[in-house]
Amino acid sequence: MYLALKHTHITFAALSILFFALRGFWMLSTPEKLQQRWVRIAPHIIDTLLLASAIALTFTISQYPFSDAWLTAKLIALFAYIMLGTIALKRGKTKAVRTLALTMAPLCVGYIVWVALNHNPQPWLV
Ligand code: HEM
Repeated sequence: MYLALKHTHITFAALSILFFALRGFWMLSTPEKLQQRWVRIAPHIIDTLLLASAIALTFTISQYPFSDAWLTAKLIALFAYIMLGTIALKRGKTKAVRTLALTMAPLCVGYIVWVALNHNPQPWLV
């Protein structure tokens, strides 16, 4: 059960990142593609399942955000990733702002994965 959950979580994390990268590419090249109905709906479904698997995993390993620092760090970094994603794909007023947000978002994701692998909010110290 634990392994199935973890693989589900990793699969939806990968889908979320890949789909974000695709939308980032479209934002720079053909922004009208971002308006397609399925492109606007799919991330909500993927991210809901990513979060649901994350919550199920926290209960499975009995470690929780605001109690275990690495999970608090993941949650905060996820929030930053979502904010940067919204700026990159929607709210950024100029293309320069959207591009800056788009290049910073992968830093958040990289940090999240690094923290996940080390169970430490400062994985560079491990
Ligand atoms: C973009 C968002 C996220 C990404 C890319 C991500 C990535 C990962 C990865 C790669 C693993 C596997 C680590 C390993 O192999 O040991 C993992 C495990 C896990 N993640 Fe996430 N995660 C994300 C969001 C979250 C959130 C928001 C939470 C909850 C606050 C969470 C909770 C967990 C838990 C509990 C595990 C299991 C750790 C273990 O059993 O060793 N994840 N995550």
